[in-house]
Order: sequence, then structure tokens, then C-alpha cells
Amino acid sequence: MLVAPSVLSADFGNLARDVKDICDSGCDLVHVDVMDGHFVPNLTIGPVVVSAIAKAATKPLDIHLMVQNNTFFVELFADLKPEYITFHIEEEKHPHRLIQKIKSYGIKAGVVLNPHTPAETLEYLLADLDMVLLMSVNPGFGGQSFIPTVIEKTSKLKALCDRINPSCLIEIDGGVNDQNVKLLRDAGADVVVAGSYVFKHKDGKKVAIQSLKA
Ligand code: DX5
Ligand code: ZN
Repeated sequence: MLVAPSVLSADFGNLARDVKDICDSGCDLVHVDVMDGHFVPNLTIGPVVVSAIAKAATKPLDIHLMVQNNTFFVELFADLKPEYITFHIEEEKHPHRLIQKIKSYGIKAGVVLNPHTPAETLEYLLADLDMVLLMSVNPGFGGQSFIPTVIEKTSKLKALCDRINPSCLIEIDGGVNDQNVKLLRDAGADVVVAGSYVFKHKDGKKVAIQSLKA
């Protein structure tokens, strides 16, 4: 299992320190949540802060857009050369076009599904995708409880990926911990995002990350 700690739960007064810390603790990707206050009822960070994260990180960035104007934000972050940019299918009229645009910058492209959006909606996009991110909470905030229906959705998506695009990764985001990670792995997940579990673990970030990988 690959682990992508969500910087949303970091101490923003010591952001560079926390980003270095998760990278030194064995994470695989640094998950960056970008919220615009329109698509979700929360506002996070823009290019100034994301570029500070990119500078501190020794692992690749995984940028999760929760915004209304996806194309604008893709153009804003392309220079930072993240490994992945993912955007919400619910907020994009032309997802196929946007996937090609993200790839034209040499960045891997992913689509995000809210808890209510069926996996089958991706049937005709999957061949072009590097990653699908399934939300296991409603997007907008860290520290929410895991919505268990995502496990069945992960199995359905895994079957679709096996048929259409076996190299597409399945990532799960929200309320992930050492309990539900086993169910997610068995259902076919490749990457888990974890914010509060990693940053608030009583034994530290390294133990938390290792427990998700084990
Ligand atoms: C929620 C974000 C998540 C969030 C996860 O909208 O996409 O990445 O930070 O935090 P936890 O792991 O605390 O649910
Ligand atoms: Zn996220």
C-alpha cells in the first residue's frame, strides 16, 4: 500500500518541518488539498504555499483539487511539476479534455469521485487515467469519519480497472486508519491518503505511516 499523508492536518506554522518529517518517515506521496470555498465550504492554499510545500518535499506531490474552475487551477500548479493532479468529476463538464491538458504538462492525471458518485461513471474515461481517487468522506475537511460504502465501490472500480486499464491506481481519501486500511487493500486500493491519522498519531508519523503500509 502506498501512503500519501494529507498536509491539511500539518502544523501550518511549521509547514516545511512537517513536510520534511513525513517524507523522512517513509511516505510515498505528499497529498495537497486545494479548496476554493465554492466547490467545498472550506478554503485552503494556493500556489505560494503549494510551492513552499514542493520546495520542502523530497517525495512527489499529489495535488487534489476541490475547486470550481479546474482548468484555471491546473494552469496555476503545472509549473510545480507535481506527480499527480486530480480533479472532481462532479465539477467538470469536459473531463476528457482536462485529462489531456494535465498530461500535456507531463503530469499524471486523476479523477475524484464524491461518496455518491458511482464508479461506473468512469467507464469511458478510465483508459486515459493514471489514478482514480475515491472520497471516503465528504470533501472539505480533515478528521471526518470513514464512509464504509466506499469499500464496495473500491471493489467495483477494481473490476473496471482490471478490464479497461490495469495500470490505473486506486486511491482512497478520508477517515483512513489502521483498521479500515486492510479492508481497502483487500478491495483493491493502491494508495491511501491519511491526514489526522498520520499527524495526530500518539507514537508519531513514522509509526502511523508504517502501520498503513503493513
Ligand atoms: C478532505 C481531504 C482529505 C483530508 C483527509 O476533503 O480531501 O485529504 O485531509 O483527512 P483525514 O485523513 O483526517 O480524513
Ligand atoms: Zn484530499
